[in-house]
Amino acid sequence: MELNYADYLKLDRLLALQEPRSSPEEHDEMLFIVIHQVYELWFKLLLHELEGIQRDFSANQLFHAIAGFKRIRTVMKTLVGQLDILETMTPMSFSGFRERLETASGFQSAQYRELEFILGYKRAELLRSFPAYSPAFHRLERRLKARSVIDHFHDFLALRGVEIPPDIRSREVTLAAVADARVQEGILRLYRSHPEVAILLELMTDFDEGQQEWRYRHVKLTERTIGNKMGTGGSSGVDFLKSTLFKSFFPDLWAIRHRF
Ligand code: HEM
Repeated sequence: MELNYADYLKLDRLLALQEPRSSPEEHDEMLFIVIHQVYELWFKLLLHELEGIQRDFSANQLFHAIAGFKRIRTVMKTLVGQLDILETMTPMSFSGFRERLETASGFQSAQYRELEFILGYKRAELLRSFPAYSPAFHRLERRLKARSVIDHFHDFLALRGVEIPPDIRSREVTLAAVADARVQEGILRLYRSHPEVAILLELMTDFDEGQQEWRYRHVKLTERTIGNKMGTGGSSGVDFLKSTLFKSFFPDLWAIRHRF
């Protein structure tokens, strides 16, 4: 039989995966499930694209990296925009099924942590949030031990004549990436001398601003939906989320904005 749409996309399986737990069924639980599943699919794509960008950086493929960042920046805008849909769910409606989530929380999204790790925001202790030796644990451990986008970005900068200091080059790969004033000087020079590289650096800044925008919108969504209740994942809730608001993945790009 010829391949058809439903078979190619495995729709029978995909559309059987939404199983509300509320009883009697709370109408909005379907939205809650679908939106989280959609986020996980976009996270999967972001990881895939970031792996491509890493290869582009190390191969000095500027225009491919530009195309990659253009795509993930646009996905990020969609991730932010989608929160509008979830904000059509009232606090009354959410409290109708929140108990059914038990301890489930976005805090346990392994792909979200993988994204943080691939972007250089590594924290080995987060592995403890996942059952030892589960597939999620292994995926995250692999990301922890792999070079991050920042490491590959340094490859790219070096290929473009920026001297990456040896202590930065040989940094323990499982530690979080750090900002560095010497690297910033090199980035600044490229900004001034190579407008085509500046396009890439601006797209990277767009992406980084986008993920911070997502954090802000997620805090406000949480605040309007559960106020100061604790999170289902066990954190203090809104206060914890507020503490993550200004996390940037590319601090070197932010540190030089006043120098132009
Ligand atoms: C009614 C909607 C939502 C509420 C009330 C909510 C609430 C919370 C709370 C309170 C936390 C802190 C951890 C905890 O104690 O549970 C959290 C973390 C998180 N949530 Fe949500 N959330 C909502 C929707 C979403 C959506 C749609 C996503 C998309 C995947 C998401 C992804 C995350 C992630 C990734 C974290 C971890 C953040 C970090 O550690 O920096 N949440 N959420």
